[in-house]
Amino acid sequence: MASATATGQRLAGRHILLGITGSIAAYKAAMLCRLWKTAGAEVQVVMTPLAKQFITPLTMATLSKRPILVEFFNPENGAWNSHVSLGEWADCYVIAPATANTLAKMATGVADNLLLTTYLSARCPVVVAPAMDLDMYAHEATQQNLRTLAARGVRIVEPGEGELASGLSGKGRMAEPEEIAEFVGQLLSEPKEEKKTLSGKRMIVTAGATIEAIDPVRFISNHSSGKMGYAIAGELASRGADVTLISGRTALPVPPGVERVDVLSAAEMYEAAVKAFDTADGAVMCAAVADYTPESVSATKLKKGDGEMCIRLRRTRDIAAELGARKGNRLLIGFALETDDEEAHAQSKLEKKNFDFIVLNSLRDAGAGFRGDTNKVTFIDRSGCEELPLLTKREVAARIADRIEGLFAR
Ligand code: CTP
Repeated sequence: MASATATGQRLAGRHILLGITGSIAAYKAAMLCRLWKTAGAEVQVVMTPLAKQFITPLTMATLSKRPILVEFFNPENGAWNSHVSLGEWADCYVIAPATANTLAKMATGVADNLLLTTYLSARCPVVVAPAMDLDMYAHEATQQNLRTLAARGVRIVEPGEGELASGLSGKGRMAEPEEIAEFVGQLLSEPKEEKKTLSGKRMIVTAGATIEAIDPVRFISNHSSGKMGYAIAGELASRGADVTLISGRTALPVPPGVERVDVLSAAEMYEAAVKAFDTADGAVMCAAVADYTPESVSATKLKKGDGEMCIRLRRTRDIAAELGARKGNRLLIGFALETDDEEAHAQSKLEKKNFDFIVLNSLRDAGAGFRGDTNKVTFIDRSGCEELPLLTKREVAARIADRIEGLFAR
């Protein structure tokens, strides 16, 4: 969920062009517009003709405090709505909701309404938040269009899963306004003239908890939120690295410029990480991977009996140790979350898994650990320890990225 102050600091005075297309999710655009206005941004709304059937121009004009734009010119006086100057005005162009139709037109360069001509002339970052029925979203045509747009640098805020307007349930409902606002806030907080110190480097980040199925209903997992790994992936990408984020299930938005591979179990994460490592320059192992998984997964729901239940577990493969064994001169950074004898445990993991350095956090430190936005860590390598103060996870990510830059420069 976006923190109002953090989003506000990033968005005050920024110019956001909000494109609305003809989807039932258009009602969420009202909330999005309000979030941005409250954060101090200027919002100019562009709608497709069909979008007016879903949300009225009056609603959007009232919320954005600007007349909304739909047509190429004003039929009353013939004045042109210049898509070129709109594109120049905007710091970011966010199309939310983006229908399958609009995404297809964007991918192929069709320019039959003002929203699309503005896309073709926009020089600012473009973000789309797809919204459609699950089958339309899953269709190869839509997926191909999304890949085309992503390859051209369009940022995609993935839709969520849940009940859809059709009555069906699945992936396709537009991301919530708070998530889109946070994504755009992060995008606009990237320094404009940042140095791309990691460009040309391919990095893998593993993040989040794995899920080990017991039966079709139950699983074994842990409390990892994935926030630290997502912050690292975002930081590395903002410095120009080509980042593959191998992620357990989370509700976090994919950071701008990051390619995410979704996995569930430790075995799936192992396969994805080993494959991606082949062409990588380094990996940051931030995931909380299950060390044990049920020896067998019941195909049907297990029924309770009168007595105790025993589930036999077997060891999973250690992904970090595997990458450590194959690493050569690539970089490998590990994490250790400990509750006691912290430094000794972290030192032993550093050696066993062949890490270049390990990021230790202790559950005994206030502000460290699972769900929060802060972390208190110590970096340990073969030359010693560096204890950092309590920082936000984004700041910790920046310190990790600084070290990675230093190691690449050796
Ligand atoms: N790790 C991994 N694959 C596993 C287990 C752990 O990649 N199957 C990685 C984690 O992402 C982290 C580091 O290894 O970078 C943690 O080391 P580990 O010794 O496995 O930590 P724990 O699982 O917490 O071990 P223990 O239960 O012994 O403390």
